[in-house]
Amino acid sequence: MSSRISAQKLLHGVSGNSTSRLVLPTLSHLSRQFATPVPPVTQNATGSKGPTAMVFLNMGGPSKTDDVGDFLSRLFSDGDLIPLGRLQGYLGPLLSKRRTPMIKKQYAAIGGGSPIRKWSEYQCAEMCKILDSISPETAPHKPYVAFRYANPLTEEMYAQLFADGFGNGKGGRAVAFTQYPQYSCSTTGSSLNELWKWRQRLEGKKVDETGAGAINWSVIDRWPAHSGLVEAFAQNIEAKLVEYPEERRKDVILLFSAHSLPMSVVNRGDPYPAEVAATVYAVMKRLNFSNQYRLCWQSQVGPSAWLGPQTATTVEQYVAKGQKDMVLIPIAFTSDHIETLYELDHEVIGESGHTDTIKRADSLNGSPVFIEALADIAKTHMSSGMACSKQMGLRCPSCKSERCLESKKFFAGQQANL
Ligand code: FES
Repeated sequence: MSSRISAQKLLHGVSGNSTSRLVLPTLSHLSRQFATPVPPVTQNATGSKGPTAMVFLNMGGPSKTDDVGDFLSRLFSDGDLIPLGRLQGYLGPLLSKRRTPMIKKQYAAIGGGSPIRKWSEYQCAEMCKILDSISPETAPHKPYVAFRYANPLTEEMYAQLFADGFGNGKGGRAVAFTQYPQYSCSTTGSSLNELWKWRQRLEGKKVDETGAGAINWSVIDRWPAHSGLVEAFAQNIEAKLVEYPEERRKDVILLFSAHSLPMSVVNRGDPYPAEVAATVYAVMKRLNFSNQYRLCWQSQVGPSAWLGPQTATTVEQYVAKGQKDMVLIPIAFTSDHIETLYELDHEVIGESGHTDTIKRADSLNGSPVFIEALADIAKTHMSSGMACSKQMGLRCPSCKSERCLESKKFFAGQQANL
């Protein structure tokens, strides 16, 4: 972006590294002219490529029970997540309306809302602090969160980027960092398609084909076997195993649980099942294969075929075989939300009849090891000079989505601006 630095950009502090004495008087002059000046993104003294916006992508969750209806309505309208074909516009609202009262009760049971926003904002802010110190060349790093189905939505995040001095003719760099460690077209793919859509709507028409003056995006699209992620999971498992008497500990079964996918998505060639398995294997390797383990799948919705075995059934069946000591490990979520706090804790464990011997490993939440891992992943990405992974360019063998095609083309094309 340095080749496109203009006086206008410097006024807003998006680029440049030794301009503070020139910029500040100008900004104070502007603030006298306008009632609400654009908050500047200021460059620190040592940086050369910053500031950098670090944008965490995730599905999100309703912060309060009154938000459940809107959350479900967005979720069931998303054909990338729940493919209902031509009936999406009709069946989506119907399904969300039907499920809202039940899901409201579930959120009420876990304290009235999802903690995912709190954890995402905390993790991103803490990661940015570490990045400021280990990656001064891209500092300062500014934290943002963009959820697919809850506030802050992608468009809200984009508006905040503009308000903070990115884009709108001023350029600047942003990193879209998926918080799904394992890539699925229905999760990360959906978030990226949404980000691409809003980028086209909000910036596409204002810039030429080189994208000069628009935000330069790059993407961290998967990190299923990063050593820090693996270490954070392993530590939480070890902490849970210690709760069992020593003579029983080695015979506890580890049940890794990930959100399931419709078989139509799996058979389309989605990479998620293989990447989740990669995480599980890496964690077990780190644990020296100390215990027997299985990977199972949760949160199936509706009557169509989904990837199994289901977590709840797996627990029931092992109990029926006489196995009462089990640790459930949410392996595809980076913080607590309804699938851990309600589905695993209340339903699977709570209704098992063995709440004293069937336990759940803590979610990653505020784990310092995990947050260090996030910083390491981000730093490695920013110094790689890559707009996204090579793998992201390969579409599912039977993908027919124009949105996938265009969004992947766009993000890969950002390479030219890095
Ligand atoms: Fe996988 Fe389009 S559905 S790339």
